[in-house]
Amino acid sequence: MGLNTEKIRQDFPILQKKVNNKPIIYFDNACMTLRPIQVIDKIREYYTDYPACGERSLHKLGRRVDEEIGKAKETLKKFINAKNASELILTKNTTEGLNLVANAFPFKPGDVVLGTDKEHNSNLLPWQRIAPKGVVYDYVESGDDGFSLENFKQKLNKKVRLVAMVMTSNMDGSSIPVKEVVKIAHDNGSLVLLDAAQAVPHHEVDVRKLDADFLAFSGHKMMGPTGTGILYGKEHSLGLLSPYIVGGGTVIDSTHTTAKYEEAPHKFEAGLQHYAGLIGLGEAANYIMRVGRDNIEKHETTLNKFVTDSLAGMVDVIGPKDAGKRSGIFSFNAGSTDPHEIAMMLDQMENICLRSGAHCVHSWFNAHNLRGSVRASFYLYNTQEECQKFAETLKMALKIVK
Ligand code: ALA
Repeated sequence: MGLNTEKIRQDFPILQKKVNNKPIIYFDNACMTLRPIQVIDKIREYYTDYPACGERSLHKLGRRVDEEIGKAKETLKKFINAKNASELILTKNTTEGLNLVANAFPFKPGDVVLGTDKEHNSNLLPWQRIAPKGVVYDYVESGDDGFSLENFKQKLNKKVRLVAMVMTSNMDGSSIPVKEVVKIAHDNGSLVLLDAAQAVPHHEVDVRKLDADFLAFSGHKMMGPTGTGILYGKEHSLGLLSPYIVGGGTVIDSTHTTAKYEEAPHKFEAGLQHYAGLIGLGEAANYIMRVGRDNIEKHETTLNKFVTDSLAGMVDVIGPKDAGKRSGIFSFNAGSTDPHEIAMMLDQMENICLRSGAHCVHSWFNAHNLRGSVRASFYLYNTQEECQKFAETLKMALKIVK
């Protein structure tokens, strides 16, 4: 069954509006997706019906918060097929989840963390920052067609304590062969942390089938609220982490000089939490599961193929040549034209929202002597008509700048 895009679009208030008498064509989904009314209503419901503390207050409103956060965590557990909801830690985004692991993992001097050459700053800088502990960061170079298993195997050795890799690149949409990577890493004795920010909103992700040790994702890239994310960890893997940010809710008891910490996830969720956010995120996961990620993935790939064919020979696409290997991301340059200029022109001409620049993957662009790219990223509510408008407008814009 395919997507009923027309029906889906009705759930998104911004898609019903016009700016300068034209609709918005929203192709900045890899940065931030739009939110459906179901998610907005669920967040509003928290603030109007039970705007209280979770996990502390025994009154009616507090109990309702507990009930709703319990339901949201159960939904999110199902969303990635975790074994227990206690394996899910609420964070404010993928970045926070990755920083948590970097700072709380029991690294020893000489341990190596292995990434790829396409890591987002959020899965690069945390490893650079722990270099003073003696942790060494290394990365696997991609081939023209994406991740290279050969290069990965060559980089592996017994010092690699953690393989920390992006599942789907926000820069070009290519994915690592994640099952093989996890298996090879485990055979080497390394644990695996996956940056799944661009994966879970778009493809089925089953942490038990993947056997991932840790996996982080963000709410705002999957139609949930900003300031929400999840760090998943197997029970045993979370047990390896020491408390990082501590405070209210993280301890069973404390004295003036000592503290007895809770188990995960509580020992990692310090202070009052973003309850409205978590409850909204659960609703977003429900929405995605109703539509089905296989349907979403197919839809995005179809749009990407259409755009790739429409602009063949006109732009230099970043990433694998085959659009089928770039999920819903079309990242490109047009000769030496400034990517920001192109993005601003398309916004001005037809309300086409793109992203331009280095997309927080400066390391890759610097290594390739490029200052950035223009990126169109598609999601379930985008249509072929919008893609056609994008291709036509881009052709017009390129004629103007040349
Ligand atoms: N990771 C976000 C993006 O790719 C910021 O746009």
